[in-house]
Amino acid sequence: MSEMVTFRTDGAIAEAVIDNPPVNATSAGVRQGLADAIERFAGDPALKVMIVRCEGRTFVAGADIKEFGKPMVGPNLTKVIEMLDALEKPTVAAVHGTTLGGGFELALACHYRIADPATRFGFPEVKLGLLPGAGGTQRTPRLAGLATTIDLVTTGKQINARKALDSGLVDRIAEGDLAEAARAYAKELAESNAPARSAGTLPMPEDDPALFEESRKTIARKMRGQPAPLLALEAIRLGYDMPFAQALEREYAMCLEAISSPESKALRHVFAAERQVAKVPGLAADIEPRKVDKAGVIGLGAMGRGITMAIAGAGIPVTAVALDEEHLAKAMGAIEKMWGSSVKKGRMSQEQMDRQMALITRSTNPADLADVDLVIEAVTEDIDIKKVVFAELGKVTRPGAILASNTSFLNIDTLADASGRAEDVCGMHFFNPAHVMRLLENVRTARTAPDVVATIMNFGKRIKKLPVLSGVCDGFIVNRMLSKRSREGFFLVEEGASPEAIDKVVLSFGFPMGPFALGDLAGLDVQAAARKSRAATASARELRADFVEQMVAAGNLGQKTGSGWYVYDENRKASHNPETDKMIAAHAEKHGLKLREIGEEEILQRLIYAMVNEGAKILGEGVAPRPHEIDVAMINGLGFPATTGGPMFWADQIGLDKVLATIEKFRAEQGDEYWTPAPLLVERAKEAKGFYA
Ligand code: 3HC
Repeated sequence: MSEMVTFRTDGAIAEAVIDNPPVNATSAGVRQGLADAIERFAGDPALKVMIVRCEGRTFVAGADIKEFGKPMVGPNLTKVIEMLDALEKPTVAAVHGTTLGGGFELALACHYRIADPATRFGFPEVKLGLLPGAGGTQRTPRLAGLATTIDLVTTGKQINARKALDSGLVDRIAEGDLAEAARAYAKELAESNAPARSAGTLPMPEDDPALFEESRKTIARKMRGQPAPLLALEAIRLGYDMPFAQALEREYAMCLEAISSPESKALRHVFAAERQVAKVPGLAADIEPRKVDKAGVIGLGAMGRGITMAIAGAGIPVTAVALDEEHLAKAMGAIEKMWGSSVKKGRMSQEQMDRQMALITRSTNPADLADVDLVIEAVTEDIDIKKVVFAELGKVTRPGAILASNTSFLNIDTLADASGRAEDVCGMHFFNPAHVMRLLENVRTARTAPDVVATIMNFGKRIKKLPVLSGVCDGFIVNRMLSKRSREGFFLVEEGASPEAIDKVVLSFGFPMGPFALGDLAGLDVQAAARKSRAATASARELRADFVEQMVAAGNLGQKTGSGWYVYDENRKASHNPETDKMIAAHAEKHGLKLREIGEEEILQRLIYAMVNEGAKILGEGVAPRPHEIDVAMINGLGFPATTGGPMFWADQIGLDKVLATIEKFRAEQGDEYWTPAPLLVERAKEAKGFYA
């Protein structure tokens, strides 16, 4: 018997207990252990019912992702599940924690299911570019009907135990200890001579072509560029086209095919990278984070409010300090309105909202931050104002309290100097809206204490963010890389590409939005202000490409005024703006620019390679400790398509020699200033390595 599965018996009841931390994935040892347990149970006439359950924090959370792409060792999961399903004596899955993917399929292949009340069920395969490959698309519809199945397998959404019970996916919710409840259930089944009960013997629910058609449209709209959800939907249809056993074979073949697709490879890379960034290189494992029982936020504009909401939303008390009573009332009103709307939509209970509101201590006096363990500063993006705030925070907070700035591009070292206690100072850069966006760029200076780094990484996770560590530089990871895409976008317009053509290329690549549509949404005045703040370091050509300033001067600020790069109707639907054509033509004439046809490939390469090259600089300078930080930050902060694996992974797939050759071509055409390749890119390309090599 494998060490990962223990087989026990007590009278007529057998138990196969899986113990494969951390998440009881169906690694080779688990599959072999289960196969052995099934044989022993089948071969012993004294045994009447077998329970399958798990030790540790969860029932099986899926197939072992680390084994994907490697040769299969021992029986595959489909085979084990087939053995379970075919047993002539009943089996009971006793599930808890996150019963996901192959784990959910394992439970569905058991004949009866009992769940701990806190169990979550789901098929996250699509998030890895896969589809369920061990019967999920065939057993689920037979038990729960089409609508629930489509929702589960095409979105990766999770459902709770109550919903699973109501849908027919579990038979019972356990009261008290799960193992005890499962044994009692098994005894009951044994005593009543309950039959084996394979979901495969049930008929498929009545076909609903209209529902399938509707789902195809939803997937095309909401999951653009992702092949897996559509494959998962088509796999359900196998149940209508062929017998159960054949449908299982075909489903498994489809899953195997998906595993070797570039999208799945990229998404699995993202899954691993998102976990990798939590482990900061060079930070000793025994460094204890400082305790943070209470936090503070100073500056309650849009960012400060969002940060306050994220903290209180995670159940942590927070003192929110505004400039004056008027700003405080406005901020608290806005927070109440946002949470109130979640209550109205049924996404939050009134009690939860009241609890969260009660966690916020309102203040207009920075001295009220004397008892907090961590302050996040989110005042106006002006270095002189921030310096004054940090000098004050250095005085009013207790020694050892962490002082973090939410600045998106100002120098945190300057703020560290102002505070008088540089070792406690760091950056915590949230993305707008801060209570929604997952990414958090934590910034350490050369002087930030290691335990401060450990604390902000830990705190970020507590407030349900995805913290990524960056060093100090202008714009940190995301904004620094984005600024290169913006630069190339404006240059391309100056050279003859229309904003619409550029947006289309970016959208087809998989971004949720093109840069010009995004500019209109964010507000061209906001973009103009950002350009102004960087004017001192901008080149003459960057300053010349002043389209945003021209539109702002004409009162066209984007969506909010109904006109920007595009024109908008009352429903904010965009259409072509002839004024934009006129502006571009006049700009070209004024500066003697010759407009030319620019193909989609050049547009894409100019925009994305500019970011890749900057990413290579960020990596080479040590601002990002690894390429993982860059990929995770760009996917979660800017919407870089996850199916590419992020800019650095994507470049590796193309081959850095090819990327370098194209960058050298652009350098010859556009000049050294913009296209000098990053030394790291040159080095890796020469060695025929990737950024991840
Ligand atoms: N295989 C291998 N390792 C896994 C894993 C899996 N399926 N799921 C999680 N892990 C590892 C993580 O890499 C991490 O490792 P680390 O400690 O070395 O970094 C560790 O388990 C803990 O994971 P998290 O940090 O994510 O822990 P959380 O408690 O935050 O989340 C979880 C737990 C909800 C189970 C989350 O890890 C998760 O969503 N896992 C993926 C589940 C999944 O995608 N399952 C489907 C797999 S595909 C499949 O089953 C195909 C089938 O249809 C044939």
